[in-house]
Amino acid sequence: METMGNMRRTHYSVAINETMVGQEVVVAGYIAKSRDLGAVIFCDVRDTKGIIQLNFNDECPRDTFEKAKQIRGEFVVMAKGVVALRESPNNNIPTGKVEVLVKELKILSKAETTPFEIKDNVNVNDELRLKYRYLDLRRTNAHEGLIVRHRLAKIARDYFDANDFIEIETPILVKSTPEGARDYIVPSRVQPNRFFALPQSPQLYKQLLMLSGYDRYVQLARCFRDEDLRADRQPEFTQIDIEMAYVDEIDIQTMNEGFIRKAFKEVLDVDVPLPFPRMTYKDAMDNYGSDKPDTRFEMKLCDLTECVKDTGFAVFRNAIDNGGSVRCIVAKGLADKLTRKEIDKLVEVAKTYGAKGLAYTRMTAENTTSSYEKFLTEAEIAATREKCGAETGDVMMVVASEENSVVYAALGALRLAVAKKFELFDPEQFNFLWVTDFPLFEFDKEENRYVAVHHPFTMPKDEDIEKLETDPGACRAKAYDMVLNGVELGGGSIRINNPDLQQRMFKILGFTEERMHDSFGFLIEAYKYGAPPHGGMAYGFDRLCMLMGRKDSIRDVIAFPKVQNASELMTGCPDTVEQKQLDELYIAMVEKK
Ligand code: AMO
Repeated sequence: METMGNMRRTHYSVAINETMVGQEVVVAGYIAKSRDLGAVIFCDVRDTKGIIQLNFNDECPRDTFEKAKQIRGEFVVMAKGVVALRESPNNNIPTGKVEVLVKELKILSKAETTPFEIKDNVNVNDELRLKYRYLDLRRTNAHEGLIVRHRLAKIARDYFDANDFIEIETPILVKSTPEGARDYIVPSRVQPNRFFALPQSPQLYKQLLMLSGYDRYVQLARCFRDEDLRADRQPEFTQIDIEMAYVDEIDIQTMNEGFIRKAFKEVLDVDVPLPFPRMTYKDAMDNYGSDKPDTRFEMKLCDLTECVKDTGFAVFRNAIDNGGSVRCIVAKGLADKLTRKEIDKLVEVAKTYGAKGLAYTRMTAENTTSSYEKFLTEAEIAATREKCGAETGDVMMVVASEENSVVYAALGALRLAVAKKFELFDPEQFNFLWVTDFPLFEFDKEENRYVAVHHPFTMPKDEDIEKLETDPGACRAKAYDMVLNGVELGGGSIRINNPDLQQRMFKILGFTEERMHDSFGFLIEAYKYGAPPHGGMAYGFDRLCMLMGRKDSIRDVIAFPKVQNASELMTGCPDTVEQKQLDELYIAMVEKK
């Protein structure tokens, strides 16, 4: 192994081009590939930005040539040479027209054979990739994800700075508060049997900063939630978190549309049209079965309940009699492709969302087959088909349930599954949307009480304040979500700045006076000393990076992500700790039953 001596890199790979022929350069990086053709050796060197070919030919000093022969994949090298045009250019890479005719080579580090090939799109299982994440991250594709992330963070800071926001850090060791997801907790050593929580978001702190007279706050904030993982969820993730005083919903939305427009222009050169369309929560659910609709394609839900209100068909009858509904989607022109076998797969999708089954009518040019029309009258068949506009070539997929939430969830998921399978949308398109007028509360059957849909500090709509106690289920919130292509990119609300109203909220949420004061006394008190109207929102920063980097999972834009069971495979955590550490914390282990 050698040292660099006084050799220093002069250029990154991608900076080398045809205009530099004859110029001396020094490049450095990993060996991505080497081909020894006897009289000449070619090596590709991979650096942070790309790849450049090294050429060791008969003009190469013999000692350097001998050294080049020893080179293997992932060796770390530094090479000095002269830029030349390649005899056989490679048009697939930006530097494919040029190469470096090497005069001097330093092997800075050797490398054993890596557990998998360091190459984009190579088929390696995720566990292995994440165990050797530092190798996985060497791939150009992986670099792209992190570079998009870096650029977006900078654009966010610049944009909000230019609009008079200041970045303020809030604590990571915080008070555990009820509501929201499950907290990660941290034991205190100096105060035995007391615990901190890791913040699920800086929500309360940013509200208190508004009360401290900083009327525009921003933070790239780390958040922690002990919840089940999905492709767009991690136990620790980052928000672009903002809060503003003296504003209403539209002011906050407009400020954020400006950020999105700037980010998409600068990173992707895409012009996002403003303002974003707005859709109420109710319309989103009725039409798309989701509060984060993907509007790149239609296939809207259709309510058939009225058409079958007198039906004797037990499945529909039960649903309707118990306060539910019968709804469908129509897969237009897909009857030939949506075979019985395909429909059977969709039944499974529907079932994972709680539907007992999926009824269908498949109308091909040859015949119509249906799983339920035999139970309906002629008039009901005609009415249902007409209501949803189903015609020859289409497939109607119907879900009935006594729980409307099940009908929405199942059809919403089917809509996405069909669109994905049959590529019904343009993957290059970016459809933004504000979903507004969320319900303030939802009833939690398990807890047998109302819980806040957004969080307990969300301001009710002015016209709903009077019915807070009498009809909580019908109250709407000054809350909004920013949705992009079916992903909830961010969400926020106007906050309650009146301590009396805040106390009413806690009471409706089932807090006793004592628990309210234990958990949120400091907040209620703070609002007594002058509180400007304020509100804000937070973006899932990882999700924004994922969508802008055109990745499938937020893992691809997080340097060291966690896997399904919330562990980090490279270092192997969570892990056991020493007994001494537990003793100091007065923590005793209990055998898991
Ligand atoms: P909310 O809980 O909706 O709001 O979170 C805001 C956004 O954060 C992202 N997000 C996540 N991203 C990755 N992994 C997770 N586990 C995860 N959970 C949430 C989503 C979501 O839209 N304090 C409020 C915001 C406010 O009212 O200002 C809050 O945290 O993209």
